[in-house]
Amino acid sequence: MTEAAVLGFGTVGSGVVEVIDRNQAAIRVQFPEGIHVKYILDLRSFPDSPYADKVVHDINVIREDPEIRIVCETMGGMEPAFSFTKSFLEKGVSVCTSNKELVAAHGPELIALAKANRCSYLFEASVGGGIPLLRTIESSLVQERITAVYGILNGTTNYILTKMAREGADFDATLKEAQDKGYAERNPESDIEGHDTARKIAILTSLVSGSTFRYEDVYCEGITKITAADFKYAKTLGMSVKLLGVSRRDPETLEFHVLTAPFLVSCEHPLYSVNDVFNGVFIHGNMVDDLMLYGRGAGKYPTASAVVSDVIDCASHDGRWITRRWDPEVIEPGDRLSEVRRFFVRTDADSEEAARKAFPGLTVVTADGMEGEFAFVTDRVTEGEFEGKAAGLKLRNRIRFLN
Ligand code: HSE
Repeated sequence: MTEAAVLGFGTVGSGVVEVIDRNQAAIRVQFPEGIHVKYILDLRSFPDSPYADKVVHDINVIREDPEIRIVCETMGGMEPAFSFTKSFLEKGVSVCTSNKELVAAHGPELIALAKANRCSYLFEASVGGGIPLLRTIESSLVQERITAVYGILNGTTNYILTKMAREGADFDATLKEAQDKGYAERNPESDIEGHDTARKIAILTSLVSGSTFRYEDVYCEGITKITAADFKYAKTLGMSVKLLGVSRRDPETLEFHVLTAPFLVSCEHPLYSVNDVFNGVFIHGNMVDDLMLYGRGAGKYPTASAVVSDVIDCASHDGRWITRRWDPEVIEPGDRLSEVRRFFVRTDADSEEAARKAFPGLTVVTADGMEGEFAFVTDRVTEGEFEGKAAGLKLRNRIRFLN
């Protein structure tokens, strides 16, 4: 039996303990010795839990037990998760995590620490919840030159946007539902302002490039300005609004252009049908062409399942480092203002003349019940040109087109 410990008995941590317990037979097919959770670290006690006897409150109990070979860090946040993770890796104990905040901020450092101590730092659950995404990039696509990765990477906001599209649902009530279902972050601002998606697309860009794309360098807009009116127009365009993380490698400069923002997605695009808490990620490789991975991007069991896939990997490679190509060298972001795309724009009605002058190739868009404003779609323009021209208009909202 390989002994493991789980740090944090919240939504994901409790899921990890259950998945290891309930799917022990499946785990033993790959790893016949089996995996056993010896400790659960949490400040709280859980007297009614079937796992109550595993709960400890002192990290040193786990640190000082030489039987522990794998730790699942499902605490989230920076501290004490960062210090705990380092202390285990320094001892040659592998760490598997769902903590995207820590991975985005310190991924390469922790990977290097694991390598130096002949253990592993794995984080499959940190992006795309239950979707086997990072392992696909690191293993199945290792031969590819990946030129684009983009998609829906946040379950909470996709849940909210789906309800707004279908039912014209109220933003706050829908957010509350997502929180109740365990999808949202402790601080949901991170979901709705796009920071969670920004961290995830930064992690993906880093793994694709092999260097570090800092999440602070991801241009980031959330969904708080998206309204029922936007969805009315989207419907007449045969589109929907989705919060996307987009990472595109310029074929000439080789720079990565990375952003997180709401996009209008056509009903002909497969991402249009990615609804509720589901995530969908497109990958374009120079040989394999387009791939799309789809699954539950948040929630207890899907996320826990991804953590456990890492646990099995670590158990099968005890005493060895599992390669993650992510060097500390920082890559500079490409110039966002040079990116070319179309925009959907809503302005006050008295901006029509100025809008027609600024965007002579515009296409007018109308929607039922939308009086007193002028809405249109621009021709393809750079972000820089758009910002310059839109500055002279009384803008109500603008949303980028995907493709
Ligand atoms: N809050 C995140 C989401 C959890 O909704 O996608 C999974 O990373």
